[in-house]
Amino acid sequence: MTATDLFEPFEHAGLRLRNRIALAPLTRARASSVGLPGAAQAEYYRQRASAGLLITEAIAVAPEGRGGAFTPGLYDDAQVAGWKLTTDAVHAAGGLIFAQLWHAGRLSHSSLTADGAVPVSPAAAIAPGSAFTEAGFVPYEMPRVLATREVEAVAAQFRRAAENARRAGFDGVQLHATHGYLIDSFLRDAINDRSDRYGGSLENRARLLVETLSELIEVFGGDRVAVRLAPNTRAGGMSDSDTAATFAYVIDRLNERGVGWLDLVEGDNLVTRTPDDAIDTDALAARFRGAVIVNHLYTTELAIAARRERKADMVAFGRLFIGNPDLVARLKSGSALVEAARDHYYGGSGEGYIDYPALTAVR
Ligand SMILES: Cc1cc2nc3c(=O)[nH]c(=O)nc-3n(C[C@H](O)[C@H](O)[C@H](O)COP(=O)(O)O)c2cc1C
Repeated sequence: MTATDLFEPFEHAGLRLRNRIALAPLTRARASSVGLPGAAQAEYYRQRASAGLLITEAIAVAPEGRGGAFTPGLYDDAQVAGWKLTTDAVHAAGGLIFAQLWHAGRLSHSSLTADGAVPVSPAAAIAPGSAFTEAGFVPYEMPRVLATREVEAVAAQFRRAAENARRAGFDGVQLHATHGYLIDSFLRDAINDRSDRYGGSLENRARLLVETLSELIEVFGGDRVAVRLAPNTRAGGMSDSDTAATFAYVIDRLNERGVGWLDLVEGDNLVTRTPDDAIDTDALAARFRGAVIVNHLYTTELAIAARRERKADMVAFGRLFIGNPDLVARLKSGSALVEAARDHYYGGSGEGYIDYPALTAVR
């Protein structure tokens, strides 16, 4: 294999990562009905702790922020205790783990909250597609438009979740700002037609993201805060009339605030690496002053090339980590990779979740 530093340690923000490979955030929907994680999650992340950095599945900051059945939260004490099992297991295995903090916005469903309230959104527009509920996939509903004072309160929800992430022992947090979820749906002008200080100008549309980040930074320090962006994805009904300007503006705000990590999803998520009319994500990566993690349909060859060209500090792998818990060792040795069963991506038991063996166990 070509010489590469992909498998070498990487030091950044006071952390020493074992290699330059990250576990991309992957919703696996194995928490309880009320979003409580436990021993199964601890085992799943422990098995993958040889990655330089683990980023958790999306974790809801509030009950109404859950975007699917059996997705976990970080808004009550039981959830903090549940996640502590994971962080302890990962740390005992020598790994590092950031919690991905999430508010699903309109990509949620009334059946997911105790009071049956409909999902919230910047605008009265039904999202394309369907929500994963306990009764299976059901079409998204007409969301309720958040009042200005309610939008102002969202950043505080993220702050409380970040405080809980600290108590649960996470090494940092990642703001989930992609795929049409709440933060992304404010940022891009696909549906945000607000006339208050959270809509209209680019500054206004980015306000919720910036206010939220400021709260996360107050809790963890910029060094331990990551942001996930996916400028070229259409997921969740997103688009932007000037994508390049929108995301350049966001990167400048991240730089101003000393955000430590940018997780950049290239291409149109799970569709193609090279969508028509894509903006140049390499230019965005170069604009960012912290560590850049790139993700989306990476192979070993592409990851090595990304390091050779210095276009990123790290590469995150998603689906390959599902069937290959020891992905780092397998990529390094050029071993065969297991393709995970898609039927087990979301929900169910430990099958297709914590029963994929590591190579050492197979031999
Ligand atoms: C089953 C599954 C669950 C995912 N859950 C999340 C998530 O919770 N948060 C997120 O930001 N992205 C999520 N993604 C997107 C992945 O992080 C990643 O961007 C995508 O899989 C592309 O990377 P890959 O080609 O290495 O799999 C998910 C993808 C899959 C397949």
